[in-house]
Amino acid sequence: MTQATHPVGVFDSGVGGLSILQALRAELPAENFVYVADSGHAPYGERDAVHVIGRSQTITRHLLAQHHIKALVVACNTATAAAIHLLRQQYPELPIVGVEPALKPAAQLSQTRRVGVMATRGTLESAKFRVLLDALQGQADFILQPCDGLADAIERQNAIKIEALCAEYTRAIGQFGHESGQIDTLVLGCTHYPFAASELRALLGPQVQLIDSGAPVARQTQRLLKTHNALSISPTPRLQLYATGYPERLQAAARHWLQLTQPVRLLSI
Ligand code: DGL
Repeated sequence: MTQATHPVGVFDSGVGGLSILQALRAELPAENFVYVADSGHAPYGERDAVHVIGRSQTITRHLLAQHHIKALVVACNTATAAAIHLLRQQYPELPIVGVEPALKPAAQLSQTRRVGVMATRGTLESAKFRVLLDALQGQADFILQPCDGLADAIERQNAIKIEALCAEYTRAIGQFGHESGQIDTLVLGCTHYPFAASELRALLGPQVQLIDSGAPVARQTQRLLKTHNALSISPTPRLQLYATGYPERLQAAARHWLQLTQPVRLLSI
């Protein structure tokens, strides 16, 4: 029996899911959260789907057994694409929210109807992404860019590499701007990439719209918890942070991006 006071589990390959956690905490300030960064097994984006599926299953099993989570947010585009259908099959009672590149909102916002999409290779090559893209045929031109190494550089907070890769990949996408034929909207299709937003802004200028999936995922989680009558009303919500490797990376990222100071615990799963 799901209890409203039980936590919501959130996981990503590493620190990227913090961009989703940030939106979740803003939308659901009374919820308890348990966040797992799978940094010991990251990055996911350039690994095969079998690895990502196995890790997603291991983490979900752990969150259910040890934390009795009432809902799960897969805060990773790559893991959502590879594993969410299997997790839903395995745990039909568990409300599960995934994240996918925000192509639809981007197509609606773009004036030039040319949209760049930065994501991992795993996401862009997935069947799930293909279905999403096909459903939007004719609504905009999407220029897809696999961004090998960028999530890893963000994971390591390697500023020089982040800047170099953002420059390389935005150049490969094409001409940004507001004239006809130019790209005026860029989808950040990996939850790590919002943490490179300032580098991207510096390269593209303030006019290009950067679209991530944090707010829609948080709203969907709110709706799902409400439907299940499982919204928390705790006045003192708890947040637990775990990492399967390099806990100092999650610690630094949580402090830097979300101003969170609770200790990150190392998880051996
Ligand atoms: N943050 C993940 C995503 O949204 C994956 C990054 C990675 O591990 O490659 O796709």
